[in-house]
Amino acid sequence: MKTTTDVRVDLPASCVLNFRSSDHNESLAHISEQLRSLVGAGVAEEIVTLTPHKWRVVMSNGEGVSICLSIPAVPGAFPQGTLTVSATADMAGTSDCCQQLMAEFMRLPFTTREMSDTTLEMPITASIDETWPNKPLDGVGILITIHHMRDFLVLVKTLTKLGVDSEDITVIDKQYPYEFSHRVDAHLTRQFGIRVGKYADLMNVVSGHVLRMERRNRRSIIMDDGGYIIPVLMESLQDTLGHWVGAVEQTISGIRRVEKYRLPFPLFSVAESELKGAIESYGIADAAVRNVIRLLPHEKFEGQPALVLGFGRIGTEVARSLRSRRMRVAVFDRSLSRLLYAHEEGFLTGKELNVLLRSHRPMIIFGSAGRRSFTGENIPAIMRDTYLVSTTSRDYEFALEEIREASSEVVSLGITGTRYLLNRGPSLTALGHGMPINFHFAESLPNRYVDVVMASLVTGAVAIASNDERLREGENVKATNEILEGSGIIERYYDTYGPKWLTNE
Ligand SMILES: NC(=O)c1ccc[n+]([C@@H]2O[C@H](COP(=O)([O-])OP(=O)(O)OC[C@H]3O[C@@H](n4cnc5c(N)ncnc54)[C@H](O)[C@@H]3O)[C@@H](O)[C@H]2O)c1
Repeated sequence: MKTTTDVRVDLPASCVLNFRSSDHNESLAHISEQLRSLVGAGVAEEIVTLTPHKWRVVMSNGEGVSICLSIPAVPGAFPQGTLTVSATADMAGTSDCCQQLMAEFMRLPFTTREMSDTTLEMPITASIDETWPNKPLDGVGILITIHHMRDFLVLVKTLTKLGVDSEDITVIDKQYPYEFSHRVDAHLTRQFGIRVGKYADLMNVVSGHVLRMERRNRRSIIMDDGGYIIPVLMESLQDTLGHWVGAVEQTISGIRRVEKYRLPFPLFSVAESELKGAIESYGIADAAVRNVIRLLPHEKFEGQPALVLGFGRIGTEVARSLRSRRMRVAVFDRSLSRLLYAHEEGFLTGKELNVLLRSHRPMIIFGSAGRRSFTGENIPAIMRDTYLVSTTSRDYEFALEEIREASSEVVSLGITGTRYLLNRGPSLTALGHGMPINFHFAESLPNRYVDVVMASLVTGAVAIASNDERLREGENVKATNEILEGSGIIERYYDTYGPKWLTNE
Protein backbone atom coordinates (compact mmCIF):
# COMPACT_ATOMS: atom_id res chain seq x y z
CA MET A 1 0.00 0.00 0.00
CA LYS A 2 1.25 3.46 -0.91
CA THR A 3 1.22 6.20 1.69
CA THR A 4 1.27 9.72 0.31
CA THR A 5 1.95 12.77 2.43
CA ASP A 6 1.89 16.48 1.61
CA VAL A 7 4.04 17.68 -1.25
CA ARG A 8 6.97 19.44 0.41
CA VAL A 9 9.10 22.05 -1.33
CA ASP A 10 12.55 22.81 -0.01
CA LEU A 11 11.75 26.24 1.43
CA PRO A 12 12.40 27.74 4.84
CA ALA A 13 9.84 26.89 7.51
CA SER A 14 7.75 29.59 9.12
CA CYS A 15 4.94 29.98 11.61
CA VAL A 16 2.52 32.81 12.15
CA LEU A 17 0.42 33.72 15.16
CA ASN A 18 -2.32 36.28 15.47
CA PHE A 19 -3.02 37.70 18.90
CA ARG A 20 -4.94 40.59 20.39
CA SER A 21 -3.55 43.22 22.63
CA SER A 22 -4.86 46.44 24.18
CA ASP A 23 -1.85 48.56 23.38
CA HIS A 24 1.42 48.66 21.58
CA ASN A 25 3.59 48.54 24.72
CA GLU A 26 1.78 45.49 26.04
CA SER A 27 2.29 43.65 22.74
CA LEU A 28 5.99 44.52 22.58
CA ALA A 29 6.49 43.43 26.20
CA HIS A 30 4.60 40.21 25.47
CA ILE A 31 6.79 39.34 22.48
CA SER A 32 10.00 40.29 24.31
CA GLU A 33 9.04 37.94 27.12
CA GLN A 34 8.33 35.22 24.56
CA LEU A 35 11.77 35.72 23.01
CA ARG A 36 13.42 35.52 26.44
CA SER A 37 11.54 32.27 27.05
CA LEU A 38 13.12 30.78 23.89
CA VAL A 39 16.52 31.35 25.45
CA GLY A 40 15.21 30.12 28.82
CA ALA A 41 13.93 26.91 27.22
CA GLY A 42 17.38 26.36 25.70
CA VAL A 43 16.12 26.38 22.09
CA ALA A 44 17.79 29.70 21.25
CA GLU A 45 21.30 30.88 22.02
CA GLU A 46 20.94 34.59 21.48
CA ILE A 47 18.35 37.22 20.51
CA VAL A 48 19.57 40.13 18.36
CA THR A 49 17.28 43.17 18.12
CA LEU A 50 17.30 44.43 14.52
CA THR A 51 14.58 47.09 14.75
CA PRO A 52 11.98 47.75 17.50
CA HIS A 53 9.73 45.15 15.80
CA LYS A 54 12.21 42.74 14.28
CA TRP A 55 14.56 40.27 15.91
CA ARG A 56 16.93 37.55 14.88
CA VAL A 57 17.02 34.43 16.97
CA VAL A 58 20.27 32.54 16.74
CA MET A 59 20.13 28.84 17.52
CA SER A 60 22.88 26.70 18.98
CA ASN A 61 23.58 25.05 15.59
CA GLY A 62 24.25 28.49 14.09
CA GLU A 63 20.98 28.67 12.14
CA GLY A 64 18.87 31.78 12.49
CA VAL A 65 15.17 32.63 12.60
CA SER A 66 13.74 36.08 11.87
CA ILE A 67 10.91 37.22 14.09
CA CYS A 68 8.70 40.09 13.08
CA LEU A 69 5.81 41.83 14.85
CA SER A 70 3.38 43.49 12.45
CA ILE A 71 -0.19 44.57 11.93
CA PRO A 72 -2.37 42.70 9.43
CA ALA A 73 -2.16 44.30 5.97
CA VAL A 74 -5.97 44.48 5.94
CA PRO A 75 -6.78 45.29 9.58
CA GLY A 76 -10.51 45.31 8.84
CA ALA A 77 -10.37 41.59 8.04
CA PHE A 78 -9.41 40.79 11.65
CA PRO A 79 -10.91 41.53 15.06
CA GLN A 80 -9.93 44.95 16.36
CA GLY A 81 -6.54 44.97 18.15
CA THR A 82 -5.10 42.01 16.18
CA LEU A 83 -1.33 41.81 15.74
CA THR A 84 0.66 39.25 13.82
CA VAL A 85 3.94 37.77 14.88
CA SER A 86 5.83 35.60 12.45
CA ALA A 87 8.95 33.47 12.63
CA THR A 88 10.80 32.47 9.45
CA ALA A 89 13.88 30.28 9.33
CA ASP A 90 16.88 31.37 7.21
CA MET A 91 17.65 27.91 5.97
CA ALA A 92 15.58 25.66 3.73
CA GLY A 93 13.86 22.70 5.36
CA THR A 94 13.40 22.20 9.06
CA SER A 95 16.23 20.97 11.20
CA ASP A 96 15.33 19.44 14.57
CA CYS A 97 16.68 22.58 16.18
CA CYS A 98 14.45 24.82 14.08
CA GLN A 99 11.38 22.63 14.62
CA GLN A 100 11.92 22.81 18.35
CA LEU A 101 12.23 26.57 18.19
CA MET A 102 9.08 26.96 16.11
CA ALA A 103 7.16 24.70 18.51
CA GLU A 104 8.36 26.76 21.48
CA PHE A 105 7.58 29.98 19.63
CA MET A 106 3.95 28.88 19.16
CA ARG A 107 3.65 28.64 22.94
CA LEU A 108 2.68 32.28 23.36
CA PRO A 109 0.69 32.87 26.56
CA PHE A 110 -2.48 34.90 26.20
CA THR A 111 -2.32 38.67 26.62
CA THR A 112 -4.21 40.43 29.40
CA ARG A 113 -6.76 41.51 26.83
CA GLU A 114 -7.30 38.01 25.46
CA MET A 115 -7.72 36.63 28.97
CA SER A 116 -10.20 39.30 29.92
CA ASP A 117 -12.21 38.64 26.72
CA THR A 118 -12.38 34.93 27.60
CA THR A 119 -13.33 35.69 31.20
CA LEU A 120 -16.15 37.94 30.01
CA GLU A 121 -17.50 35.04 27.94
CA MET A 122 -17.72 32.89 31.09
CA PRO A 123 -19.33 35.09 33.76
CA ILE A 124 -20.69 32.22 35.87
CA THR A 125 -17.45 30.23 36.18
CA ALA A 126 -15.40 33.41 36.62
CA SER A 127 -17.40 34.57 39.63
CA ILE A 128 -18.73 31.37 41.20
CA ASP A 129 -15.99 31.56 43.84
CA GLU A 130 -17.98 34.42 45.43
CA THR A 131 -20.53 31.77 46.51
CA TRP A 132 -17.96 30.28 48.91
CA PRO A 133 -15.87 33.11 50.41
CA ASN A 134 -14.30 30.74 52.98
CA LYS A 135 -12.00 29.18 50.32
CA PRO A 136 -13.21 25.58 50.59
CA LEU A 137 -10.45 24.25 48.30
CA ASP A 138 -7.64 25.53 50.50
CA GLY A 139 -5.21 22.65 51.19
CA VAL A 140 -6.64 20.36 48.49
CA GLY A 141 -4.69 18.93 45.53
CA ILE A 142 -6.36 18.73 42.10
CA LEU A 143 -5.52 16.31 39.29
CA ILE A 144 -7.35 17.47 36.23
CA THR A 145 -7.85 16.18 32.67
CA ILE A 146 -9.77 18.66 30.60
CA HIS A 147 -9.40 19.86 27.03
CA HIS A 148 -6.58 22.38 26.50
CA MET A 149 -8.95 25.17 25.49
CA ARG A 150 -9.34 28.74 26.69
CA ASP A 151 -12.39 27.91 28.85
CA PHE A 152 -10.13 25.70 30.92
CA LEU A 153 -7.99 28.67 31.94
CA VAL A 154 -11.00 30.41 33.46
CA LEU A 155 -11.85 27.23 35.36
CA VAL A 156 -8.31 26.90 36.72
CA LYS A 157 -8.24 30.56 37.75
CA THR A 158 -11.46 30.05 39.71
CA LEU A 159 -10.05 26.95 41.42
CA THR A 160 -7.11 29.04 42.63
CA LYS A 161 -9.48 31.78 43.84
CA LEU A 162 -11.21 29.06 45.86
CA GLY A 163 -7.98 28.34 47.67
CA VAL A 164 -6.07 25.71 45.65
CA ASP A 165 -2.39 26.53 45.44
CA SER A 166 -1.22 26.30 41.81
CA GLU A 167 1.64 24.16 43.15
CA ASP A 168 -1.05 21.58 44.07
CA ILE A 169 -2.64 21.32 40.62
CA THR A 170 -1.50 18.83 37.97
CA VAL A 171 -3.01 18.98 34.51
CA ILE A 172 -3.04 16.07 32.08
CA ASP A 173 -2.93 17.26 28.48
CA LYS A 174 -5.23 15.06 26.35
CA GLN A 175 -3.04 15.98 23.35
CA TYR A 176 -5.83 16.83 20.91
CA PRO A 177 -4.93 19.48 18.31
CA TYR A 178 -7.20 22.29 19.60
CA GLU A 179 -7.08 25.72 18.04
CA PHE A 180 -4.99 27.19 20.87
CA SER A 181 -3.41 24.08 22.46
CA HIS A 182 0.11 25.56 22.57
CA ARG A 183 -0.99 28.89 23.93
CA VAL A 184 -3.17 27.33 26.63
CA ASP A 185 -0.27 25.12 27.62
CA ALA A 186 2.09 28.09 27.82
CA HIS A 187 -0.42 30.03 29.90
CA LEU A 188 -0.89 27.15 32.33
CA THR A 189 2.80 26.55 32.85
CA ARG A 190 4.30 30.03 32.54
CA GLN A 191 1.56 32.36 33.78
CA PHE A 192 -0.14 30.09 36.34
CA GLY A 193 2.93 28.00 37.26
CA ILE A 194 1.00 24.73 36.92
CA ARG A 195 2.55 21.36 36.09
CA VAL A 196 1.29 19.79 32.85
CA GLY A 197 1.88 16.13 32.00
CA LYS A 198 1.01 14.30 28.81
CA TYR A 199 -1.79 11.76 28.34
CA ALA A 200 0.83 9.47 26.76
CA ASP A 201 2.63 9.41 30.14
CA LEU A 202 -0.56 9.07 32.21
CA MET A 203 0.64 6.57 34.80
CA ASN A 204 3.77 8.55 35.70
CA VAL A 205 1.85 11.81 35.85
CA VAL A 206 -0.74 10.33 38.25
CA SER A 207 1.79 8.69 40.55
CA GLY A 208 4.03 11.77 40.44
CA HIS A 209 1.07 13.92 41.55
CA VAL A 210 0.30 11.62 44.49
CA LEU A 211 3.92 11.62 45.65
CA ARG A 212 4.15 15.39 45.46
CA MET A 213 0.86 15.92 47.29
CA GLU A 214 1.74 13.45 50.03
CA ARG A 215 4.98 15.30 50.62
CA ARG A 216 2.85 18.44 51.01
CA ASN A 217 0.34 16.68 53.27
CA ARG A 218 -2.49 17.04 50.82
CA ARG A 219 -5.26 14.74 49.59
CA SER A 220 -6.60 15.30 46.08
CA ILE A 221 -9.73 15.61 44.01
CA ILE A 222 -9.88 14.25 40.45
CA MET A 223 -11.53 16.40 37.81
CA ASP A 224 -11.80 14.23 34.72
CA ASP A 225 -13.19 14.42 31.22
CA GLY A 226 -13.40 10.93 29.76
CA GLY A 227 -12.61 8.56 32.65
CA TYR A 228 -8.85 8.68 32.12
CA ILE A 229 -7.64 8.68 35.73
CA ILE A 230 -9.84 6.29 37.74
CA PRO A 231 -9.05 3.16 35.64
CA VAL A 232 -5.33 3.81 36.22
CA LEU A 233 -5.93 3.99 39.99
CA MET A 234 -8.17 0.94 40.12
CA GLU A 235 -5.99 -1.24 37.87
CA SER A 236 -2.44 -0.18 38.67
CA LEU A 237 -2.24 2.24 41.58
CA GLN A 238 -4.57 0.66 44.19
CA ASP A 239 -2.16 1.60 46.96
CA THR A 240 -2.97 5.28 46.29
CA LEU A 241 -6.76 4.88 46.65
CA GLY A 242 -6.74 6.37 50.16
CA HIS A 243 -5.23 9.55 48.76
CA TRP A 244 -8.33 10.62 46.84
CA VAL A 245 -11.17 12.61 48.39
CA GLY A 246 -13.43 12.20 45.37
CA ALA A 247 -13.84 12.72 41.64
CA VAL A 248 -15.84 14.93 39.31
CA GLU A 249 -16.56 13.52 35.84
CA GLN A 250 -17.61 15.66 32.93
CA THR A 251 -18.57 13.16 30.24
CA ILE A 252 -20.69 10.05 29.75
CA SER A 253 -17.85 8.09 28.16
CA GLY A 254 -15.96 8.70 31.41
CA ILE A 255 -18.87 7.32 33.43
CA ARG A 256 -18.96 4.23 31.19
CA ARG A 257 -15.27 3.62 31.69
CA VAL A 258 -15.51 3.73 35.47
CA GLU A 259 -18.93 2.22 36.22
CA LYS A 260 -17.51 -1.31 36.54
CA TYR A 261 -15.43 -0.32 39.60
CA ARG A 262 -16.51 -0.08 43.24
CA LEU A 263 -15.19 3.34 44.03
CA PRO A 264 -14.03 4.05 47.57
CA PHE A 265 -14.84 7.77 47.15
CA PRO A 266 -17.74 9.82 45.74
CA LEU A 267 -18.03 10.51 42.03
CA PHE A 268 -19.87 13.76 41.26
CA SER A 269 -21.45 13.07 37.89
CA VAL A 270 -21.75 16.35 35.99
CA ALA A 271 -21.82 14.02 32.96
CA GLU A 272 -25.27 12.71 33.85
CA SER A 273 -26.67 15.91 35.29
CA GLU A 274 -29.90 17.32 33.92
CA LEU A 275 -28.22 20.70 33.58
CA LYS A 276 -25.50 19.42 31.27
CA GLY A 277 -27.95 17.27 29.29
CA ALA A 278 -30.15 20.29 28.62
CA ILE A 279 -27.39 22.38 27.10
CA GLU A 280 -24.34 20.52 25.97
CA SER A 281 -25.40 17.88 23.44
CA TYR A 282 -26.94 20.47 21.16
CA GLY A 283 -23.82 22.64 21.47
CA ILE A 284 -21.45 19.75 20.67
CA ALA A 285 -23.48 18.68 17.63
CA ASP A 286 -23.68 22.25 16.41
CA ALA A 287 -19.91 22.75 16.88
CA ALA A 288 -19.22 19.46 15.07
CA VAL A 289 -21.38 20.32 12.07
CA ARG A 290 -19.97 23.85 11.90
CA ASN A 291 -16.41 22.55 11.92
CA VAL A 292 -17.19 20.06 9.14
CA ILE A 293 -18.49 22.91 7.01
CA ARG A 294 -15.37 24.96 7.81
CA LEU A 295 -13.09 22.05 6.85
CA LEU A 296 -15.01 21.37 3.62
CA PRO A 297 -15.88 24.86 2.40
CA HIS A 298 -16.46 23.77 -1.20
CA GLU A 299 -18.73 20.79 -0.49
CA LYS A 300 -22.42 20.92 -1.20
CA PHE A 301 -24.39 19.44 1.68
CA GLU A 302 -27.97 20.45 0.93
CA GLY A 303 -30.02 17.68 -0.62
CA GLN A 304 -27.19 15.13 -0.06
CA PRO A 305 -27.56 11.89 1.94
CA ALA A 306 -26.03 11.73 5.43
CA LEU A 307 -25.94 8.89 7.94
CA VAL A 308 -25.67 9.16 11.72
CA LEU A 309 -24.45 6.16 13.72
CA GLY A 310 -25.80 6.24 17.29
CA PHE A 311 -29.00 8.14 18.08
CA GLY A 312 -28.09 9.04 21.66
CA ARG A 313 -27.82 12.50 23.20
CA ILE A 314 -25.23 13.80 20.74
CA GLY A 315 -26.26 11.71 17.69
CA THR A 316 -29.87 12.93 17.96
CA GLU A 317 -28.71 16.53 17.85
CA VAL A 318 -26.28 15.82 14.99
CA ALA A 319 -29.10 14.22 12.97
CA ARG A 320 -31.41 17.18 13.67
CA SER A 321 -28.68 19.67 12.80
CA LEU A 322 -27.92 17.94 9.48
CA ARG A 323 -31.61 17.84 8.65
CA SER A 324 -31.89 21.55 9.40
CA ARG A 325 -29.08 22.00 6.86
CA ARG A 326 -31.36 20.33 4.35
CA MET A 327 -29.54 17.02 4.17
CA ARG A 328 -31.44 13.74 3.71
CA VAL A 329 -30.59 12.07 6.99
CA ALA A 330 -30.62 8.37 7.86
CA VAL A 331 -29.95 6.96 11.32
CA PHE A 332 -28.61 3.67 12.57
CA ASP A 333 -28.56 2.67 16.23
CA ARG A 334 -27.96 -0.83 17.51
CA SER A 335 -30.66 -0.29 20.13
CA LEU A 336 -34.08 -0.96 18.62
CA SER A 337 -35.81 1.55 20.89
CA ARG A 338 -33.41 4.33 19.81
CA LEU A 339 -33.97 3.27 16.20
CA LEU A 340 -37.70 3.59 16.76
CA TYR A 341 -37.32 7.10 18.25
CA ALA A 342 -35.34 8.09 15.16
CA HIS A 343 -38.01 6.62 12.91
CA GLU A 344 -40.75 8.48 14.80
CA GLU A 345 -38.81 11.70 14.29
CA GLY A 346 -39.00 11.09 10.57
CA PHE A 347 -35.44 9.92 9.92
CA LEU A 348 -34.81 7.09 7.48
CA THR A 349 -33.76 4.08 9.57
CA GLY A 350 -32.89 0.42 9.06
CA LYS A 351 -32.00 -2.56 11.24
CA GLU A 352 -29.05 -3.58 9.04
CA LEU A 353 -26.25 -1.05 8.75
CA ASN A 354 -24.90 -2.49 5.51
CA VAL A 355 -28.34 -2.38 3.87
CA LEU A 356 -28.71 1.26 4.94
CA LEU A 357 -25.23 2.08 3.62
CA ARG A 358 -25.91 0.45 0.23
CA SER A 359 -29.32 1.97 -0.32
CA HIS A 360 -28.85 5.45 1.18
CA ARG A 361 -25.30 5.95 -0.23
CA PRO A 362 -24.31 8.64 2.33
CA MET A 363 -21.78 11.28 1.31
CA ILE A 364 -21.02 11.77 5.00
CA ILE A 365 -21.22 9.43 7.99
CA PHE A 366 -21.21 10.83 11.52
CA GLY A 367 -20.15 8.39 14.23
CA SER A 368 -21.73 9.35 17.55
CA ALA A 369 -22.04 5.95 19.25
CA GLY A 370 -19.20 6.52 21.71
CA ARG A 371 -17.62 3.22 20.61
CA ARG A 372 -16.65 1.37 17.42
CA SER A 373 -19.68 1.76 15.15
CA PHE A 374 -18.09 1.26 11.72
CA THR A 375 -15.92 -1.84 11.24
CA GLY A 376 -14.19 -3.64 8.38
CA GLU A 377 -17.46 -5.50 7.71
CA ASN A 378 -19.07 -2.24 6.65
CA ILE A 379 -16.39 -1.28 4.11
CA PRO A 380 -17.88 -3.36 1.22
CA ALA A 381 -21.17 -1.46 1.65
CA ILE A 382 -19.54 1.90 0.85
CA MET A 383 -20.87 2.82 -2.59
CA ARG A 384 -19.31 6.26 -3.20
CA ASP A 385 -16.65 8.64 -1.89
CA THR A 386 -17.64 9.23 1.69
CA TYR A 387 -16.50 11.44 4.56
CA LEU A 388 -16.23 9.88 8.02
CA VAL A 389 -16.74 12.24 10.94
CA SER A 390 -16.49 11.33 14.60
CA THR A 391 -17.87 13.13 17.62
CA THR A 392 -16.49 10.48 19.98
CA SER A 393 -13.44 10.76 22.23
CA ARG A 394 -10.10 9.89 20.61
CA ASP A 395 -10.32 7.80 17.38
CA TYR A 396 -12.46 4.85 18.54
CA GLU A 397 -15.48 5.34 16.32
CA PHE A 398 -14.20 4.06 12.93
CA ALA A 399 -11.98 0.98 12.38
CA LEU A 400 -9.23 3.04 10.77
CA GLU A 401 -6.69 0.19 10.81
CA GLU A 402 -9.07 -2.09 8.92
CA ILE A 403 -9.86 0.70 6.48
CA ARG A 404 -6.12 1.18 5.96
CA GLU A 405 -5.69 -2.53 5.22
CA ALA A 406 -8.53 -2.40 2.66
CA SER A 407 -6.89 0.55 0.85
CA SER A 408 -4.50 0.77 -2.06
CA GLU A 409 -3.31 4.22 -1.02
CA VAL A 410 -3.53 6.46 2.04
CA VAL A 411 -3.19 10.18 1.49
CA SER A 412 -2.60 12.80 4.16
CA LEU A 413 -4.75 15.86 3.44
CA GLY A 414 -3.20 18.05 6.16
CA ILE A 415 -5.77 19.72 8.39
CA THR A 416 -8.66 18.07 6.48
CA GLY A 417 -7.69 14.57 7.57
CA THR A 418 -6.70 11.29 5.94
CA ARG A 419 -8.05 9.87 2.69
CA TYR A 420 -8.16 6.10 2.16
CA LEU A 421 -8.46 5.00 -1.48
CA LEU A 422 -10.21 1.67 -1.09
CA ASN A 423 -9.03 -1.26 -3.22
CA ARG A 424 -12.58 -1.49 -4.55
CA GLY A 425 -12.67 2.07 -5.90
CA PRO A 426 -14.43 4.65 -3.71
CA SER A 427 -12.55 6.59 -1.04
CA LEU A 428 -13.18 7.12 2.64
CA THR A 429 -11.94 10.40 4.10
CA ALA A 430 -11.58 10.47 7.87
CA LEU A 431 -12.05 14.16 8.63
CA GLY A 432 -9.67 15.29 11.36
CA HIS A 433 -8.01 11.83 11.11
CA GLY A 434 -11.03 10.30 12.90
CA MET A 435 -10.61 12.35 16.09
CA PRO A 436 -13.63 14.24 17.55
CA ILE A 437 -14.26 16.87 14.95
CA ASN A 438 -15.52 19.61 17.25
CA PHE A 439 -12.02 19.83 18.76
CA HIS A 440 -10.05 19.57 15.53
CA PHE A 441 -8.11 22.85 15.36
CA ALA A 442 -11.19 24.33 16.96
CA GLU A 443 -12.54 25.06 20.43
CA SER A 444 -15.76 23.02 20.31
CA LEU A 445 -18.80 24.83 21.65
CA PRO A 446 -18.71 28.54 22.40
CA ASN A 447 -17.55 29.53 25.87
CA ARG A 448 -20.95 31.02 26.69
CA TYR A 449 -22.48 27.51 26.59
CA VAL A 450 -19.66 25.72 28.31
CA ASP A 451 -19.63 28.27 31.13
CA VAL A 452 -22.42 26.42 32.89
CA VAL A 453 -20.56 23.08 32.62
CA MET A 454 -17.29 24.53 33.96
CA ALA A 455 -19.20 26.13 36.84
CA SER A 456 -20.77 22.72 37.55
CA LEU A 457 -17.33 21.09 37.73
CA VAL A 458 -16.20 23.71 40.24
CA THR A 459 -19.37 23.14 42.27
CA GLY A 460 -18.63 19.40 42.29
CA ALA A 461 -15.08 19.95 43.57
CA VAL A 462 -16.36 22.23 46.33
CA ALA A 463 -19.10 19.74 47.35
CA ILE A 464 -16.50 16.96 47.60
CA ALA A 465 -13.97 19.08 49.50
CA SER A 466 -16.71 20.20 51.92
CA ASN A 467 -17.81 16.58 52.53
CA ASP A 468 -21.35 17.34 51.39
CA GLU A 469 -23.36 14.67 53.23
CA ARG A 470 -25.57 13.99 50.20
CA LEU A 471 -22.61 12.47 48.38
CA ARG A 472 -22.00 8.73 48.85
CA GLU A 473 -19.16 6.47 47.73
CA GLY A 474 -19.51 5.63 44.03
CA GLU A 475 -21.50 7.40 41.34
CA ASN A 476 -23.87 10.17 42.50
CA VAL A 477 -26.55 11.24 40.06
CA LYS A 478 -29.44 12.33 42.29
CA ALA A 479 -27.16 14.19 44.71
CA THR A 480 -25.31 15.85 41.82
CA ASN A 481 -28.62 17.15 40.45
CA GLU A 482 -29.69 18.39 43.89
CA ILE A 483 -26.39 20.13 44.55
CA LEU A 484 -26.33 21.79 41.13
CA GLU A 485 -29.99 22.77 41.52
CA GLY A 486 -29.17 24.50 44.81
CA SER A 487 -25.96 26.14 43.58
CA GLY A 488 -27.62 29.09 41.82
CA ILE A 489 -25.91 28.20 38.50
CA ILE A 490 -29.17 27.48 36.70
CA GLU A 491 -30.71 30.72 37.90
CA ARG A 492 -27.67 32.73 36.81
CA TYR A 493 -27.62 31.08 33.40
CA TYR A 494 -31.31 31.83 32.92
CA ASP A 495 -30.87 35.39 34.15
CA THR A 496 -28.00 35.87 31.71
CA TYR A 497 -29.50 34.28 28.60
CA GLY A 498 -33.22 34.01 29.35
CA PRO A 499 -35.85 36.61 28.42
CA LYS A 500 -35.51 39.95 30.17
CA TRP A 501 -39.01 40.84 31.29
CA LEU A 502 -39.84 44.35 32.33
CA THR A 503 -41.08 44.42 35.91
CA ASN A 504 -42.94 47.09 37.80
CA GLU A 505 -40.31 47.26 40.55
N1 LIG B 1 -17.14 15.49 21.08
C1 LIG B 1 -17.44 15.90 22.29
O1 LIG B 1 -17.29 17.06 22.66
C2 LIG B 1 -18.00 14.92 23.24
C3 LIG B 1 -18.50 15.34 24.47
C4 LIG B 1 -19.07 14.40 25.31
C5 LIG B 1 -19.07 13.07 24.92
N2 LIG B 1 -18.54 12.69 23.74
C6 LIG B 1 -18.54 11.32 23.22
O2 LIG B 1 -19.78 11.06 22.62
C7 LIG B 1 -20.16 9.73 22.93
C8 LIG B 1 -21.67 9.60 22.84
O3 LIG B 1 -22.25 10.40 23.85
P1 LIG B 1 -23.82 10.42 24.08
O4 LIG B 1 -24.05 11.24 25.29
O5 LIG B 1 -24.54 10.77 22.82
O6 LIG B 1 -24.05 8.87 24.43
P2 LIG B 1 -25.42 8.07 24.44
O7 LIG B 1 -25.20 6.88 25.29
O8 LIG B 1 -26.55 8.99 24.75
O9 LIG B 1 -25.59 7.60 22.91
C9 LIG B 1 -24.89 6.57 22.28
C10 LIG B 1 -25.86 5.88 21.33
O10 LIG B 1 -25.10 5.03 20.48
C11 LIG B 1 -25.78 3.80 20.37
N3 LIG B 1 -24.79 2.79 20.01
C12 LIG B 1 -23.91 2.18 20.83
N4 LIG B 1 -23.12 1.35 20.12
C13 LIG B 1 -23.52 1.46 18.84
C14 LIG B 1 -23.06 0.88 17.63
N5 LIG B 1 -22.05 0.00 17.61
N6 LIG B 1 -23.68 1.24 16.49
C15 LIG B 1 -24.70 2.13 16.50
N7 LIG B 1 -25.17 2.70 17.62
C16 LIG B 1 -24.57 2.38 18.77
C17 LIG B 1 -26.43 3.59 21.71
O11 LIG B 1 -27.51 2.69 21.61
C18 LIG B 1 -26.88 5.00 22.03
O12 LIG B 1 -28.18 5.27 21.53
C19 LIG B 1 -19.55 9.51 24.31
O13 LIG B 1 -19.32 8.16 24.54
C20 LIG B 1 -18.25 10.30 24.24
O14 LIG B 1 -17.20 9.48 23.76
C21 LIG B 1 -18.02 13.59 22.89
